[in-house]
Amino acid sequence: MTLLEVIRNRQSVRAFLKKPVTQEVLIQLLEAARFSPSGVNTQPWRVAVLGQQTMNAITDDYIRAKDNQEPDCPDYQYYPLEWREPYLQRRRACGLALYSAAGITKEDSVRRKEQWYKNYSFFGAPVGLMILIDSYLETGSWLDTGMFIQTLLLAARALGLETCPQAALSERPDIIRKHLKLTAELKVVCGIALGYADWSDPINQYRTEREPVEAFASWYE
Ligand SMILES: Cc1cc2nc3c(=O)[nH]c(=O)nc-3n(C[C@H](O)[C@H](O)[C@H](O)COP(=O)(O)O)c2cc1C
Repeated sequence: MTLLEVIRNRQSVRAFLKKPVTQEVLIQLLEAARFSPSGVNTQPWRVAVLGQQTMNAITDDYIRAKDNQEPDCPDYQYYPLEWREPYLQRRRACGLALYSAAGITKEDSVRRKEQWYKNYSFFGAPVGLMILIDSYLETGSWLDTGMFIQTLLLAARALGLETCPQAALSERPDIIRKHLKLTAELKVVCGIALGYADWSDPINQYRTEREPVEAFASWYE
């Protein structure tokens, strides 16, 4: 697979095989990701690698918090509070494609909730990654961390693994900090579900669309 093929074929995967990921492969993955660029080589990313026991404890707390309708308290605001076009329409299309791949109608709020809750169990992946960042760092370091995440997603694919980055897991950073025994010095950026894809699951059988180059690129003499 060439790099361009890896980029073109990466997709978010939301159902995984039970097949474990070896420590050796995990190290290979992190070894690749550490070559991401960062402003003045600050390398601000931090990664927590979670096994099943820790993921289960996080899942339990998340489900309890969500069922009790406890408010989210993310360390940062990912999405705009008020959506405008063209982002609103893209967001809607994304949700629609996801739920229709799972055979869930717009009206079926029970199954929609069930599907969303799968976020909190890392979509059943054998490994969960939590991406963290020192709270004292500024926006530029978040940009660097985003690059690190993409390098990691691509490297995973090159190693035969699949991923789903998950902002859902940053909704309650207090739960993550509790189970990883972290102080508020580290902010929770997002989670990443990691493992071998279950391609037989319909949820993995749709691809999101992209705007053509003309929609986002401007050319100047
Ligand atoms: C930082 C980040 C956070 C995301 N959070 C979630 C999430 O919480 N749950 C989810 O199902 N997908 C999540 N996604 C996946 C996006 O929905 C997905 O990347 C987008 O629809 C494009 O599809 P693709 O990744 O299959 O190309 C996230 C993606 C990124 C980059």
